[in-house]
Amino acid sequence: MKKILDVISDEMKKGFAAAGYDEELGRVTLSNRPDLCEYQCNGAMAGAKKYKKAPLMIASDVAEKLQDRQVFSEVNAVAPGFLNLKVSEEFLCGYLKEMKEAEKFGLEKPEKVRNIVIDYGGPNVAKPLHVGHLRSAIIGESIKRICRYAGHHVTGDVHLGDWGLQMGLIITELKKRQPHLPYFDPDFSGEYPEEAPFTVSELEEIYPTASKKSKEDAAYKEEALEATLKLQSGDRGYRALWNHIIAVSVADLKKNYANLNVEFDLWKGESDADPIIPGMVEDMKKGGFAYESEGALVVDVKEETDTKEIPPCIILKSDGAALYATTDLATIKDRVENMHADDLIYLTDKRQEMHFLQVFRTARKTGLVGPEVTMRHIGFGTMNGKDGKPFKTRDGGVMRLEYLIDEINQEMYRKIVESREVSEQEARETAKVIGLSAIKYGDLSNQASKDYIFDIDRFTSFEGDTGPYILYTIVRIKSILNKYKEQGGCLENICLKEAVNGSEKALMQELAKCNTVLANAYEELAPHKICAYIYDMANAFNRFYHETKILTEEDAERKAGWIALLVLTRDVLETCIDLLGFSAPERM
Ligand code: ARG
Repeated sequence: MKKILDVISDEMKKGFAAAGYDEELGRVTLSNRPDLCEYQCNGAMAGAKKYKKAPLMIASDVAEKLQDRQVFSEVNAVAPGFLNLKVSEEFLCGYLKEMKEAEKFGLEKPEKVRNIVIDYGGPNVAKPLHVGHLRSAIIGESIKRICRYAGHHVTGDVHLGDWGLQMGLIITELKKRQPHLPYFDPDFSGEYPEEAPFTVSELEEIYPTASKKSKEDAAYKEEALEATLKLQSGDRGYRALWNHIIAVSVADLKKNYANLNVEFDLWKGESDADPIIPGMVEDMKKGGFAYESEGALVVDVKEETDTKEIPPCIILKSDGAALYATTDLATIKDRVENMHADDLIYLTDKRQEMHFLQVFRTARKTGLVGPEVTMRHIGFGTMNGKDGKPFKTRDGGVMRLEYLIDEINQEMYRKIVESREVSEQEARETAKVIGLSAIKYGDLSNQASKDYIFDIDRFTSFEGDTGPYILYTIVRIKSILNKYKEQGGCLENICLKEAVNGSEKALMQELAKCNTVLANAYEELAPHKICAYIYDMANAFNRFYHETKILTEEDAERKAGWIALLVLTRDVLETCIDLLGFSAPERM
């Protein structure tokens, strides 16, 4: 279905053509003077030079041709040559009726379905999830849903940090604590136990301990490096132990992500790239791309147009070990060759910008990806506390995700029981649902690349540009619809009607933007555009609600028309919050 601005522009173009001007001048935009008009066209200004005519004359010529078109209720030529427009109630209502019937509110299907791989989350095994991983999960999940809704084939991959020194450290510390385990016995040839010899909490304590020791004790570090090498060269016992570490850690991660309404299609990790590395490195050497520099194997990636120094991408260290870039390159090879990806999207902190620039350039240069494949890194800013510094616990430690979620849920719970009679269980469940909207909307409503301040008081407020405000609006609509049903009304077969007042028309105009906004959010991979949209929509709805006595309206047809408008508003809002990765309760 055409975007509303395109439909209006087409009408305007006809006007320009009928008046003898180039129809390309007929582009219409949203008005930047909403007090004067709804839409505007500046084509007459642009055409003045070409036609050697005063813009106001051109505008007047065009306006005259458009006086009895069904689309417009007002076409005014005003000095110095703008065309101020209002659409007719009839046209707007017709547009919304079509949208209501259309699939996905009239969002056009893509010409070509793209195969998109989104790499997000990126937690490191055996380390607890902290708020730094929160943004990747929240933004990535939303982008995944937006791409899918736009009609593409999308795979989300968590890309675990499950390889390298951190694994060697854990194995080393375990060996110190439990040297008699069969995993460390080179002569052991039986079946290894099914049960892991540790719990998640132990694992989470083991890693920082080992990491600390390795920094203080060179011999310990040496042992960890050896353990890493032994694991990577396929030692049977170490591999079995590694499997336990992954299993225990992944089970815990899945639980945490489920609480965030985040779901991955693939649970692959850096380790999966390992077998691909030797062949890839060989090809890079053979192709003449990778060469030795100070013992390391590198690929040059600087380009003439660079304004800053872009260092070579290091493929192998001088001891032959693979690096972060190496596993990322091998993963790209896997995603392109085996998954046939058209687009690769990555979500990490923006401090990894240089890493991805080097990796992407290397991938292009060495032919891992063809020119038709796109690679995008979405680098996000830092989540700060109210003091403007990276978010910490009260005592200054790194905030664990679980605690943060807990804190928000407590606050939501407090607000719920304060405002109404409700059972303990319902209050707890509702608090979780609203709490998630507070966290996610608080994050997603900012442009991803910007830092933002995590402000619990603001995020949990039922007023203002917040998740709870959006949910509150949805719940308000649901409650009106329920009352309508209680009065004997039926939500099926009711028909939208032409707007009879300004706030109603304004709400309809917001709704009519739906396919435009969704298409735009996909093109720019920008969930914040959806947030801005639903905030405007919630405001438009609440204005309408306060000015209109819906349930006591006596004209049954008019009332049904309003109810139909509410149903559409609810459906658009609920679809949008689903794209952001949260949902609304029935009551709150
Ligand atoms: N594990 C990494 C980290 O914590 C993030 C991984 C991001 N994805 C990637 N393909 N490099 O920094």
